[in-house]
Amino acid sequence: MPVTTCIFDAYGTLFDVAAAARILAEQPGQENLAEVWPKLAADWRLKQLQYTWLRAVTGDHTPFWEVTKDGLDWAMEASGLDDPEMREALLALYWELPAYGEVFEMLATLKAWGMATGILSNGSPDMLDGAVEFAGLREWLDAVLSVEDVGIFKPARVVYDMVGKRFGTAPDQVLFVSSNGWDAAAAAGYGFHTVWVNRAGEPMDRLPAKPSNVLSDLKGIPDLARSL
Ligand code: LAC
Repeated sequence: MPVTTCIFDAYGTLFDVAAAARILAEQPGQENLAEVWPKLAADWRLKQLQYTWLRAVTGDHTPFWEVTKDGLDWAMEASGLDDPEMREALLALYWELPAYGEVFEMLATLKAWGMATGILSNGSPDMLDGAVEFAGLREWLDAVLSVEDVGIFKPARVVYDMVGKRFGTAPDQVLFVSSNGWDAAAAAGYGFHTVWVNRAGEPMDRLPAKPSNVLSDLKGIPDLARSL
C-alpha cells in the first residue's frame, strides 16, 4: 500500500539538541562552557538516551524531562562543570530548541501533497508542545504523540503501535523518520518504511533490523514518501 503518513522522531531529528549547549557557549561569560560544549552536548545526549533504554528495561519509567535533567547532571560533572546557573540556563534552552533549517519546507511539501504528518517522541507532552510552538511547526503537524500515553520509552513496540491507533494506518503505509539509528532500526523491525537521517555520517547500528533508507538530511523525505 502507498505511504500516506510520515512520522518523525523529535529530538535530534526535527530539533537540534546540540543547540542548547552551543547557544549558551556563545554567550559572554561562558568561557568554561565554550571550552567543552561539544563534549558536554554529546555526553548529555548519550546519557539521556541510555537512561531511557535502562528505564524501559527495568520498568522504572519517568517522564523524559527527568532523564534529560539526569543526563545533564552526569555530563556537567564529567566536564568538571559545577554551576547551578549554567544548569538552569541549559535546561531552559532545551524548551526552545531550533528546528533544522529544512524542516519547514519539508513539512509544508508533505502537507501540500496530501500526506498526514506527526511526531512520535519520547518527549513528554509539555516538552513537545513547547518545542513545536517555539519552532512554529504546529500548523504542519496533524498529531504530536508522546510515549507518556503508554508509559515506556522507545524502542518498545507499544510506542510504534501508537501511530496505527492514531492514524488508522497499517505499518507499511507509514514512513518513519529518525536521526537515531536504533530508533529507525526498531521501526524497520516493526514494519514501517524507515529513514535514518545520518547527519554525522555515523556507522550503521548493528541491530536485528536495518532502516530501509539513509539520508544525510530531511530534504529528500517528500520525494521518497511519494515514491513508496
Ligand atoms: C525522541 C528522542 C529519541 O524524540 O529523540 O523520541
